[in-house]
Amino acid sequence: MPGIAKLYFITAICFLVAGILVGLQMSIAHEYAATGAHAHINLLGWVTMAIFGAFQALNPRGAGTRFAKAQYYVYTGGVVVMTPALYLLLTGKPSFEPIVAVSSLVVFAGVLMFAAIMFRARAD
Ligand code: HEM
Repeated sequence: MPGIAKLYFITAICFLVAGILVGLQMSIAHEYAATGAHAHINLLGWVTMAIFGAFQALNPRGAGTRFAKAQYYVYTGGVVVMTPALYLLLTGKPSFEPIVAVSSLVVFAGVLMFAAIMFRARAD
């Protein structure tokens, strides 16, 4: 498996653990303000990263490029900053809104980079 695919899977499982912890914390406390953060940790972190990793595993030729590595760091960096900032915003810290806004755009840039990787991939 290409290194970038493994990196995506390892990062994805870390987000699933974090997402479930937030879900359990909400369930135990009966306090659901962080639902949006829980959903984004699981969907941008676990689900999307696992799909990115699976695509890279199926496309080993494209997975070894510098662009693929840059895409991983842009997307993951965006999600790593955005999700805790969103958690803090939703649980009563409005000052985190600009951080959520900027990091959301970084996440989107990572998605556009991945779109380029997908369109450039050739059938092996
Ligand atoms: C043990 C694991 C999990 C626990 C304990 C958990 C817990 C929760 C809780 C308490 C809520 C809030 C429900 C409400 O507001 O009424 C929620 C919402 C949500 N969860 Fe999870 N969750 C888990 C796993 C996941 C996973 C793996 C995903 C996605 C891959 C996910 C996606 C969502 C989404 C999208 C919502 C928002 C639903 C809505 O607002 O309609 N959850 N979860």
